[in-house]
Amino acid sequence: PPPSGQAGPPMGWNSWNRFGCKIDEQLIRDQADALVKSGMREAGYTYVVVDDCWMANERDADGKLQADPTTFPSGMKALGDYIHKQGLKFGIYSSAGSQTCEGRPASRDKEEVDAQTFADWGADFLKYDYCESKAADRPQGEPARDRYERMGAALRATGRPIVYSVVEWGDEKPWEWAYDVGGTMWRTTRDIKPNWPNITGILDQQVGLEKYARPGGWNDPDMLQVGNGLSEDENQFHMTMWSLLNAPLMAGNDITAMDEGTAATLLNREVLDVQRDFGKGQGYRLRDDGDTEVWAKGMSDGSVVVALLNRGTETVSVSTAASEIGLPPAESYRVLDLWNGEKPATPGPLGGEVAGHGVLALRVWPLR
Ligand code: DGJ
Repeated sequence: PPPSGQAGPPMGWNSWNRFGCKIDEQLIRDQADALVKSGMREAGYTYVVVDDCWMANERDADGKLQADPTTFPSGMKALGDYIHKQGLKFGIYSSAGSQTCEGRPASRDKEEVDAQTFADWGADFLKYDYCESKAADRPQGEPARDRYERMGAALRATGRPIVYSVVEWGDEKPWEWAYDVGGTMWRTTRDIKPNWPNITGILDQQVGLEKYARPGGWNDPDMLQVGNGLSEDENQFHMTMWSLLNAPLMAGNDITAMDEGTAATLLNREVLDVQRDFGKGQGYRLRDDGDTEVWAKGMSDGSVVVALLNRGTETVSVSTAASEIGLPPAESYRVLDLWNGEKPATPGPLGGEVAGHGVLALRVWPLR
């Protein structure tokens, strides 16, 4: 496959969902090693992003951010070098306020010096958070867009290609402006949590945003919680839907200790093929029947991926028709179940049994 970040939405691993503020350089190096060993790097998970809490409480004598001396004693340049040596890319974090959400120094009014520092350390990705930059905290009522625009310009001025992840949490509709200020991806929600109501709630918030996605500018429904306590059906649901949305896939579990089911979910090639193919555009909701829903996405090769969802707890039968998902009339259709393999060709209908909190994901090709 083409390396991620070029053809499709960025993929990688981020420290926040599993480890929060409890991170150090050895932990990050271990996760990087595990990305290689598990086959995730080869599958496209290439960005290793160090989230909040890497920085010392004080800037250095030159006013530059510096690594926390206790947890990152070797410094961020050395960590970036280590990550690069593993054939991975280095991602770092700051916030548009004067402090991060965890109270560490952040980049407000220091955008230029910080962007240059990140570039000097070899950063390939910046996750730019939104703490302390909410309108309510700003007497002058400055729009979020202006803060993100200033950092976007600062990143460009370094001359280093750096993926810019805009984490304004959706309050000021970043999908309307983040691309124009240099954003590669923009958050469409508040923080994801590893539970079913949160994940389905985030999915609901994506309805209607499909028109803002484009190659190089992606809606970001937040990072993955696969492997952080969801059931196997829920993990597959989450992975399928984020891929159908062409979302960036930032794994958020402990890669050094994941079980086989989690690895298989994150590495499912057929699902990853959907995520990296913009095709006819980001997937969208076609039908909402309450507990069951039909989502679809047209692929570059003329096939259509359909996701039949079951939000209830009992197994139910869900189906659609080729015409409903935009396929041309044909005598029969080839059907690939993305989680269970090839099914017999059929004239239709398309569907089957869907487990509670589960998804039946089918890629369908018209046959002559
Ligand atoms: C809020 C963001 O939405 C999270 O993803 C994470 O970066 C935390 N802040 C870190 O403080």
